[in-house]
Amino acid sequence: MSGDPSPQAGVRPVPASIDARLAPVLALDGPTASGKGTIAQRVAAALGWHYLDSGALYRLTALAALRAGVPFDDAEGLARLAAALPVDFTADGRIVLGGADVTDAIRDEAVGNGASRLAVHAGVRAALLGLQRGFRRPPGLVADGRDMGTVVFPDATLKVFLTASAESRADRRHKQLIEKGISANLPGLLQDLRERDARDASRSVAPLAQAEGAHVLDSTSLSIDETVEKVLELWTAQG
Ligand code: CDP
Repeated sequence: MSGDPSPQAGVRPVPASIDARLAPVLALDGPTASGKGTIAQRVAAALGWHYLDSGALYRLTALAALRAGVPFDDAEGLARLAAALPVDFTADGRIVLGGADVTDAIRDEAVGNGASRLAVHAGVRAALLGLQRGFRRPPGLVADGRDMGTVVFPDATLKVFLTASAESRADRRHKQLIEKGISANLPGLLQDLRERDARDASRSVAPLAQAEGAHVLDSTSLSIDETVEKVLELWTAQG
């Protein structure tokens, strides 16, 4: 089926003859609310590549834990949950957990906080590793998270560390929530974001850090379109 122009081609299982590890990866890491998700999705669409929202896997584990009553300090119980997440990413972009559509539920701030708390456990991270690497397939993958360039895809072709000031990130998150009709308070969001930054950067396993060779992109004064453009320029410059 080489040269098959079918729009379905991208979602078919990778034939055994193709080594998925050879597919290029563009790793986009950065702190909370830096806009990684939006930028990564746009870049993936522009390149015609697959997209991995690794944070969604931590959020799914948090939601599953909340529903099953597993506390966020129960490292073993959480790792067991993460290893057996009954998750399905549908072709139309929905996320289904145990048969229920949880696309919106995992965006809840309480779930995000839980995700940040359980992400400190090495067992949880190890349990999610294979699932994340499974997203790598031709023609390429844009992966966003905290440790895409350092741990999950250390051989990524391009590594970008996307950042922005804490104030502008809190402001963006605030607007996002308000647009969704969710009430939010700016000082509370800023404090929460600083706590999450500190937890992500100081944990002993896979802390948020710039990968060696990563290009730092500060989007504080850039629009979404400008940021996408800069990432695509970096990709083109990479050859
Ligand atoms: O929206 P936000 O950037 O806060 O979160 P996210 O990217 O959806 O990820 C939720 C949480 O999962 C983060 O606060 C991180 O603590 C954790 N995470 C991680 O540890 N490693 C990743 N590769 C992705 C997310």
